Amino acid sequence: MDRLNPSDWIAAGEALLPEMIALRRSIHLEPELGLHNPKTTAKAKAAIAGLPLEISEGPSTSGFIALLRGPANGRTVLLRGDMDALPMHEETGLAFSSTDDGAMHACGHDAHTAMLAGAAKALCARREELAGSVMFMFQPGEEGHHGARYMLDDGIINPLPDAAFALHVSPNVPKGTFGGRAGPLLAAADRIEITVKGKGGHASQPHLALDPIPVACEIVTALQSLVTRRIPAFDPVVITIARIEAGTTNNVIPETAELEGTIRSFSESSRALARDGVLRIATNIAAAHGATVEAEIIPGFPVTVCDSKAVALAKAAAVSLFGDGGWLTIPSPIMGAEDFAYVLQKVPGAMVMLGATPEGGDFRTCCGLHSNRMTIDESVMARGVAMHCAYAEVFLREGFGET
Ligand code: NI
Repeated sequence: MDRLNPSDWIAAGEALLPEMIALRRSIHLEPELGLHNPKTTAKAKAAIAGLPLEISEGPSTSGFIALLRGPANGRTVLLRGDMDALPMHEETGLAFSSTDDGAMHACGHDAHTAMLAGAAKALCARREELAGSVMFMFQPGEEGHHGARYMLDDGIINPLPDAAFALHVSPNVPKGTFGGRAGPLLAAADRIEITVKGKGGHASQPHLALDPIPVACEIVTALQSLVTRRIPAFDPVVITIARIEAGTTNNVIPETAELEGTIRSFSESSRALARDGVLRIATNIAAAHGATVEAEIIPGFPVTVCDSKAVALAKAAAVSLFGDGGWLTIPSPIMGAEDFAYVLQKVPGAMVMLGATPEGGDFRTCCGLHSNRMTIDESVMARGVAMHCAYAEVFLREGFGET
C-alpha cells in the first residue's frame, strides 16, 4: 500500500476550508445544548451526504457514527468531533454570532464538527488507498452531559476501534501548532454538593439556635487542609467550593447552609481519597457542632489519559505535515475535563490541542475556551483536517509501530 504524501492531506484540508468555514458558521449561528442537537446533526449529515459511509445511531443522543468501511482484515481508527455548545451569552460581536441568547459555541465544538465532516470527505476521496476502516464519531453532550458514554452504552461504537483520536481547538496554543502529552492530559471532575443542617433562630441568641454558617465555613477551610495533608503532592488534586449560600437577612440565623464545588484529580486513587475525604470532613465537622449534613459527590468525567504510542504517532504526523514547529509537547496536565476520557478508557488513543489564536491576538492573553468573547482563526481547520487524515492513514497502515 502506497504511503500518501503529507502534502496531499495539506492540500485536501485547504481545498475543503471554504465549505468547513460555511458549516462552522452555520453551526455557530444556531448552537444547541446537551445530548440532543438535532439542527447540528442535520447540518453534519448534509455535509457528508452522498459519501460511502454507514450511519449508526442510538436512542440516547442525536449523535451518530459514520463508518468508512475498509478492507475486512484491516484496523479501525475512530476520529471524534463534539457538537454541543455552552449555556451562556455570546459577546464576540461576530457577524455570525449565536441567535440564541442562552447558548454559545465558546468551546470550539462548531469547528470540531466542521473538521470532522471535512476529514470524512478527504478520507472518502482516498478510500482505495486506506488500509482499514474509519469511524467518524459525531458526538453531542460533551459539556458535562456524558455524550461519549451514552454513545458507548448505546452500542453504536461496535466493535470497538483499535485507536481513537480527537482534536480540540484552543486560542491559547500558538496558532496552527498541535499540542499534546502522553499520560493524563485533562482531569477527572466530580461535583460536590453539601447542605449543612442546623436550627434557625434569632441572630442575637445563637445559643438557642444551631447556626450552620460557621460549620459551613469550617468545612470549606478544612477541605484545603485535606488537599495538602492527605493527598500525595505528586498526584495533585484541586478542591474548590465555588458557591456558598445561606441566610436571608442580618438578624436571622438560617436553618441550612449550602456548599457547591468541584474536585479535580488525575488518578483514581487520588480521586477516591478526595471524594472520601470531603464526605468524612463534612459529616464529622457538622457532627462536632451538633449539626448534620447531606453530602453528595456526583461523579463527572474520568481522567483523560493519552496513550504514549498514540501521542508519538500524533507528534510524528504533525511534524511530517508541518515540520518541527508543528508540534508542542504540553508540559503538564490541564485541570479542565473532557468526556473523550470515556473513549480513551476503552481504546488507546490521544486528544490533541490545535492552536487557533484569532487574527491579531496573542495566544498568551487572548480570550480562552469558555469565554463569552472566545473566537478562533478558522483557517486552522485546514490543518485539523490534514492531521485527522494523516493520523488515520498512518495508523491504519502501521498501527502504533508494532510489526
Ligand atoms: Ni470542548
